[in-house]
Amino acid sequence: MSEANPKHSHGARHVAIIMDGNGRWAKKRFLPHAMGHKKGVEAVRRTVRAAGELGLEALTIYAFSSENWKRPEGEVNDLMMLLRNYIQSDLDEFIANNVRLKVIGNYKALAPDIVVLIDDAIAKTAHGDTTLAVALNYGSQDELLRVTRKIADMQSSGAIQPDAIDETLFASMLDTADLPPLDLLIRTSGEHRLSNFMLWQCAYAEMWFTDILWPDFGPEHLEQALEDFANRERRFGGR
Ligand code: IPE
Ligand code: IPE
Ligand code: MG
Repeated sequence: MSEANPKHSHGARHVAIIMDGNGRWAKKRFLPHAMGHKKGVEAVRRTVRAAGELGLEALTIYAFSSENWKRPEGEVNDLMMLLRNYIQSDLDEFIANNVRLKVIGNYKALAPDIVVLIDDAIAKTAHGDTTLAVALNYGSQDELLRVTRKIADMQSSGAIQPDAIDETLFASMLDTADLPPLDLLIRTSGEHRLSNFMLWQCAYAEMWFTDILWPDFGPEHLEQALEDFANRERRFGGR
């Protein structure tokens, strides 16, 4: 984790977004769900560019949750196809813009060809200085359980004593270990819940909610969120 100062006067280093409302965006227009997701990818593209321009060190986006498998098979397939296309079409732009791709969540359980695409993109962007972390097959409870199981293994093999299990050790084993602390969480579409996203990392994150549906989200909304963030007083429990 880098201890560098924020690059921008808004003071945020790491923003995460729960990109919600693709379905409602499509429904309002009497379009199929898939069109909402397709437009959602365009919003991702705009937002990733804006994040770089606004000097963020990391942008984490919730693209597919561990609970989204409950959706109809056709919708899951559409989302996976959009993911394949997105990685393939935007990889050159990531490289050109020094974007480092990272994935949080159990992405190895996705289709083997997607895992190959992701691993290749991660390797080719490894030297980028702005991180785009995509949450894929991600659930925060799953992430916390994976860490807990690892720690239990370490303890039973005698590699660690219970006293040594502290916040620093735990955070260093999360999928987000190499990202700056989360400053700001954004959720679109008027929902006010976390939906199993970054429960540990949200401990002292600021929250920003908007009624904008994800396909309508753009740089101006990210800028607005960061402007609001700059005016918040963060106390971390102190005075
Ligand atoms: C968010 O849009 C995208 C994913 C969860 C993959 P939704 O598809 O959840 O949109 P709504 O909530 O139905 O409007
Ligand atoms: C959260 O949105 C997951 C993603 C944005 C990928 P959902 O639409 O799945 O969340 P719920 O079901 O409304 O809580
Ligand atoms: Mg939703």
